[in-house]
Amino acid sequence: MSLEHLFSPTNLAEIALKHRVVMAPLTRSRSAQPGDVPQQLNVDYYSQRASAGLIITEATQVSPQGKGYAFTPGIHSEQQIAGWKTITDAVHAKGAKIVLQLWHVGRISHSSLQLDGELPVAPSAIAPEGQAFTEQGFVDFETPRALATIEMPSIIEQFTQAAINAKQAGFDGVEVHAANGYLLDQFLKEGSNQRTDSYGGSIENRARLTLEVTQAVAEVWGSGRVGVRISPTGTFNSMSESEPQALFNYLTEQLSAMNLSYLHVVENFGGASSEGFSFAQLRSRFAGAYMANGGYTADSAEQAIAEGKADVVSFGAPFIANPDLPERFKQGATLNELDQNTLYGGGAEGYTDYPSLAAATS
Ligand code: PHB
Repeated sequence: MSLEHLFSPTNLAEIALKHRVVMAPLTRSRSAQPGDVPQQLNVDYYSQRASAGLIITEATQVSPQGKGYAFTPGIHSEQQIAGWKTITDAVHAKGAKIVLQLWHVGRISHSSLQLDGELPVAPSAIAPEGQAFTEQGFVDFETPRALATIEMPSIIEQFTQAAINAKQAGFDGVEVHAANGYLLDQFLKEGSNQRTDSYGGSIENRARLTLEVTQAVAEVWGSGRVGVRISPTGTFNSMSESEPQALFNYLTEQLSAMNLSYLHVVENFGGASSEGFSFAQLRSRFAGAYMANGGYTADSAEQAIAEGKADVVSFGAPFIANPDLPERFKQGATLNELDQNTLYGGGAEGYTDYPSLAAATS
């Protein structure tokens, strides 16, 4: 199958891409300790993958409060900004674009990961099911503390400051993480949001925080360099929503009016069903670029773009195991298998030692 659409250039508003194979954000938990600082190992990993049309970094905590997993990087200290700068420099030297994913985990954290052992924060005091990944291993989630209405500006401020820091670190833009059961998604979906203030109840109220955060970040960067990631049908991290189509149609219309760089849609993650949900309704409501994600192959990505269902497609797992994924797609080459045991934490093994085609055939 020809991959002419997938390998044609495009613009995500202000961000120009040489082709449409995007590296999706991937949590790998390998920042330097203490301090959650990007290090040389991470420079190697991202520069190995700089043949991507665009790299979206792993989810990166906007503040100490936004952290939910051991060893994930942040963008709130001088050291972290300097660490990220070494990554953006290396990726730019190889001709790729790179945006930072801005992350606040909300209740998907643990007091042992928080400053002064405080409880994680959330829209409502409802514990998710499952366990947090801490430096001492997996521990049960706690019941989070519900944010007071007067604290909401401070949440927006955390994203704003992180967006400013990302600019200093030399990124091409930022992606607001409003997906996969983290703080913004917790506000969006009804199962985790039982608030009675202006941030809960109606669809308009539940969408408010995501829209305010995106607006604030767009004021830092210019809207054409800001993307937003959503997972309308996702149930990961104990998410539930009875009216996802109405909720995400509304959110998408509001985001569209902001003239953003792209809307990044997790169509499929963790086996949740998307039956009955129309991603086409989001696509038709969004004026900017539509980035599809979730289980695509080179052929299905080509087809989605050719049929106008997406503008670009992001690949997660295949990019972990195949640093030269675009070249492998072009050649129709076999893909390396992913090793599940080395996804989170550790060093170079399962991180920077997956072979490229050139290495495998030489
Ligand atoms: C994860 O660490 O499992 C994780 C992080 C961010 C996501 C999804 C999953 O958006």
